[in-house]
Amino acid sequence: MDFHVGGFIGGTDLAQGSRDQWTSSFGFFAAAVGSAVGLGNMWRFSYLTAEKGGAAFVFLYLAFTLAIGIPIMLAELTLGRGSGKSPIGALAHYGGARWKPLGALFVVTGFVILSYYSVIAGWTIRYALEALLVGMPADPGSHFGLISEGGGAFIFHIVFMTLTMAIVAGGVSRGIERVSVIAMPILFFLVCGIAIYASTLENSASGYAYYLNADFRNAFSMDVLVSAAGQAFFSLSLGMGAIMTFASYLGREGNLPRQAVSIASADFGVAFLAGLMVFPIVFALGLQGIMGEGTLGTLFVALPRAFLEMGAAGRVVGSFFFVALVIGALTSALSLFEVVVSAAVDGLGWSRRKAVLLMGVLVMLLGGAAAFSLAILDVMDQVANNLLLLVGGLALSIFAGWVMDDPIGEASSGGGDPKGLPVWRFLLRWVAPPTLVFVLWHSVPSTFANFLALFRG
Ligand code: TRP
Repeated sequence: MDFHVGGFIGGTDLAQGSRDQWTSSFGFFAAAVGSAVGLGNMWRFSYLTAEKGGAAFVFLYLAFTLAIGIPIMLAELTLGRGSGKSPIGALAHYGGARWKPLGALFVVTGFVILSYYSVIAGWTIRYALEALLVGMPADPGSHFGLISEGGGAFIFHIVFMTLTMAIVAGGVSRGIERVSVIAMPILFFLVCGIAIYASTLENSASGYAYYLNADFRNAFSMDVLVSAAGQAFFSLSLGMGAIMTFASYLGREGNLPRQAVSIASADFGVAFLAGLMVFPIVFALGLQGIMGEGTLGTLFVALPRAFLEMGAAGRVVGSFFFVALVIGALTSALSLFEVVVSAAVDGLGWSRRKAVLLMGVLVMLLGGAAAFSLAILDVMDQVANNLLLLVGGLALSIFAGWVMDDPIGEASSGGGDPKGLPVWRFLLRWVAPPTLVFVLWHSVPSTFANFLALFRG
């Protein structure tokens, strides 16, 4: 059955038993990098780096990416491709029915993240449109206050979710892949171009100095450690089965360890490049005071101010910057939404269209809370990153390290040299779980306290 209606807007209901597949390995790579590269690399990475004191934070985040991120990435790829099922089914396939609740937790996490992610993405659509059509706002501080909460924020959240739903309704190869193979190269060129432009600014040196000179006195606080761990998971799209879901649409062939390293490198590369655009621009214009406040909104205040002061060039660069953010946000949202949609399609037997429609409306409603309150948005972000993703990652490392029968055989079954894989299994068994327990031990009380503080006003 095929209800294709032209473009990627049309739904594609595949006949039962024939699961959609990526059409090429570049298609899968573009979609996976599209999932990883997003607001996390640009907005969240820059504001956390500013808040947590620069290069020392970047270094810790890189360490988490290498020691724990890449191993869990490979675990997700292996579970997804090996089972050919979305997360709930994949976990049951290798571990039995008692692991299904973990898959359900992934779906819940997907709902939570997508709900507030879509609100922030809505801001970026608004900024991009304004930059293209009318220029930068005259007073970025009060402008952000105006658009970040309330009816306007809600409307742009709905707009963004509608786009996401339209693409996911097209299916994996005809929706997600088709958009990603075009969008990701564009994003990459935009980011490189802006970073090169930033290097030509007078005084950009102080920005590089701030960004790249590590001051390790800051790095050893628990707060910085927890944020670096959470950021590594968020940025790589790990801990809730998003990469697993994408991998479930892979054919048998393909070198998974190499894919894991490539995806993670591209993700870190874009985050690093984002720092190379944001910090020189902000410091060149003497706006580090705003950035140093390190709150959710700083990027949306400091950068427009910088673009405003740059005049005509600023408007062009600013437009490119916000368009890049929109592209990153959209391709990431596709993967978050695919987790939820595939769970309904595979688990409840719904058609893709029905799943997209009902789940999309649910996300629109849940996101309403974040659209009307920045405080709620902030807590949703903390609960998701410092709690849900870390718990998910912990469970995944235990699952692939200890529960699964032959992870090494599965991981290398599509090609590639299995010689290095015992190191992978060692990291999954002995490094990831204790580290994540340690991080959670410190993050749970503060995350919980922030959550409760919401209700005390
Ligand atoms: N990685 C994306 C970003 O950096 C966000 C994202 C997409 C994500 N899918 C995810 C985060 C799954 C966690 C889990 O913006």
